[in-house]
Amino acid sequence: MRIDVVSIFPGYFDALELSLLGKAKSRGLIDLRVHDLREAAHDKHRTVDDTPAGGGAGMVMKPEPWGEMLDGILADEDSGTEPLIIFPSPAGDVFTQRMARELAEERHLVFGCGRYEGIDQRVFDEYAERGRVRLVSIGDYVLNGGEVATIAMIEAIGRLLPGVVGNPESLVEESHEEDGLLEYPSYTKPAEWRGREVPPVLLSGNHAAVERWRREQRVERTRRVRPELLPEELREA
Ligand code: ADE
Repeated sequence: MRIDVVSIFPGYFDALELSLLGKAKSRGLIDLRVHDLREAAHDKHRTVDDTPAGGGAGMVMKPEPWGEMLDGILADEDSGTEPLIIFPSPAGDVFTQRMARELAEERHLVFGCGRYEGIDQRVFDEYAERGRVRLVSIGDYVLNGGEVATIAMIEAIGRLLPGVVGNPESLVEESHEEDGLLEYPSYTKPAEWRGREVPPVLLSGNHAAVERWRREQRVERTRRVRPELLPEELREA
């Protein structure tokens, strides 16, 4: 998958060099290209923002640098499909595991990270008219910009790409996967730590009993923490 990111803080994305995603990058499974928006700002101070039309607090990102940058990325399209442009925004559709699965099917994603009070609306309108654009929120809280949201999305999407996670089975039993339940608690050795024991059923060698216990834990935890995720048939009357 090709992923282009546009930001005024390209250094944020150094974090993606670490761990699994870094490995996926060096193995060529993810072709990540990070662009500094200021390279498309041509005045002495490389200005990317200006005061809001109509007045008000804060600054708005100017359309020209975005236009130049996104035109350049689209012109350099080499994945053979029309890229999907994602603008992280608290005003967007909420990012979920389902959306991560959907986006993992794309060949080319472009993330446009806004700062300040946002990006001039005409940028969204321009690219939505020319192609596919989505505004996506990672939750009901406000970040200072789209960078952290983009990293979260790239990690959630990247780990679903074939070959990125060594054991694909480990993807299936996680929270929000398969049946929408949260995951069961995990334990390892030693069997006792600070007087706290691993639940005996997990040491029993009885696979059916272990499976039953894990399922119960998932249902109980989901009911307690996120009751709205429980499938209809598991809701108590
Ligand atoms: N930018 C600022 N807040 C955000 C959020 N919650 N999700 C995505 N992008 C954002």
